[in-house]
Amino acid sequence: MDGDLAATIAARYPTAEFPALAAQIRLWDRTRPLAGAHVLDVTPVYANTLPKYLALQAAGAAVTVSVHRGIPGDPAVIAGLPEFGIAVADEPALLSGYDVVLDCAGTHADVTSRDGYAELTRSGLTRYAGCTQPVVMVDSGVLKRIETTLGTGDGFVRAMAHLGQPVTADRSVTVIGGGKVGFGVAAACAAAGATVTIIDPLPVEVPAGAVRLDAADDAAVARAVASSWCVVSATGQRHGLASLAQVLRYSEALLANMGAEDEFGTDVPPERALNSKVPVNFVLAEPTRLRYLDPTMALSNAAAVELHAKRIPAGVHAPAPELEQAILREVRDHGAVAAELDTVLAAPTYRRSVDR
Ligand SMILES: NC(=O)c1ccc[n+]([C@@H]2O[C@H](COP(=O)([O-])OP(=O)(O)OC[C@H]3O[C@@H](n4cnc5c(N)ncnc54)[C@H](O)[C@@H]3O)[C@@H](O)[C@H]2O)c1
Repeated sequence: MDGDLAATIAARYPTAEFPALAAQIRLWDRTRPLAGAHVLDVTPVYANTLPKYLALQAAGAAVTVSVHRGIPGDPAVIAGLPEFGIAVADEPALLSGYDVVLDCAGTHADVTSRDGYAELTRSGLTRYAGCTQPVVMVDSGVLKRIETTLGTGDGFVRAMAHLGQPVTADRSVTVIGGGKVGFGVAAACAAAGATVTIIDPLPVEVPAGAVRLDAADDAAVARAVASSWCVVSATGQRHGLASLAQVLRYSEALLANMGAEDEFGTDVPPERALNSKVPVNFVLAEPTRLRYLDPTMALSNAAAVELHAKRIPAGVHAPAPELEQAILREVRDHGAVAAELDTVLAAPTYRRSVDR
C-alpha cells in the first residue's frame, strides 16, 4: 500500500462536501471504535465513496470492499483501492469472517457476520426479513431522503445536460412515480423552469408549480406522454410501465429511467431510452454528488460502530434518531447542502415515506 487516501480525497473534495464523514474521521482517529474489526463494505464504488472508507479506517477497521455484478461502480476507482490498503473481493459466495457487513440491495445477506448488518436500500429489506442477527436499515431514516430526493434530482438535471439535453424553461417533463426520487426529479426540473407533470396512483404531494395526474386515467396519461419533451420513470417497479410500452415507444418524448431496474419493460428496446434504460444519472462519473451521499454513508458507518459495540438488538431496526440527529447537525453546520435541507426534510414525500 503506497497511496495516501486522505490526500487523494483532499485534492478532490472540500470538506463541506462530506462534513459528516469528516467529523467521523476526526473523532474516530482518536477513539478507534472499530479497532481490530474487519468490515465488508458493499456501497457502490465511485470516487466519492472514498471518504466512507477513510472514516472506517480511521476507526481502526480493516476494510474489504465487495464488488457485485448487480451493483454499478467505477472500474478505475475499484482498481485503485488496494493502493489505499482496501482489499477488493468479487465473489460474495466465498466471503466470510467479517465482524460487520455494510450491505447494499441485500446482495450480501448470506455472508456471515459476527456483529450484524447495515443495509443501504429498501430493496434489500426483503433479504433481511427474518434475520436473527442485528440489522440496521439505513434507508428507513430521515437522512436517506437527502440522497434520494435532493441528490437524484440534481443528478437527473446534470445527466440531461451531460447528454446534450438540458432541462430548460421551454420543456415539459412528465415524471411517472412521484415518490422520493420522482419528487426530487420533479422539483429539480420545476426549479429549472420546466413544466412538470407527476403521474402516480396515489394522491402524492407535488412540488410547487407541478401538477399530478392519476395513473389510472389512461387517456390523460397518454396525452401527457404525447405532449412531453421527456418522460422519466421512478416507480421502483421492474417493468412497472409495461402497459404503457407502446405509447412510450412511439411517442416523440425522450425516455429516461431513474429506477434501479428496467421500468419500461421488454417492449421498449434499450436503444429507445437514454443511457440504454440504465438509470440516467449513472451516465455521470458521479451519479449522485458527494454532498448528498455524505449523510447516508456516515449513517452506514455509524451503524457499523453501533453493531460492533453490540448496542443493536437482534432483528431489523430503523436507525436510532439520536444517531441521525448527530449527523444532521454536522451537515447543517458545515455542509454544502445545508441551504437545501429544509426543502427535503419538510417535504410531504419524506413525512409519508417513513410511514411506509
Ligand atoms: N437513480 C438513482 O440514483 C436512484 C437513487 C435512489 C433510488 N433509486 C431508485 O428509484 C426508484 C424509486 O425509488 P423511490 O425511493 O422514489 O420509491 P418510492 O416507493 O418512494 O416511490 C415510488 C412511487 O411510484 C409510484 N408508482 C408505483 N407504480 C406506479 C405506476 N405503475 N405508475 C405510476 N406510479 C407508480 C408509487 O405510488 C410511489 O409513489 C427505485 O427503483 C429506487 O431503487 C434510484
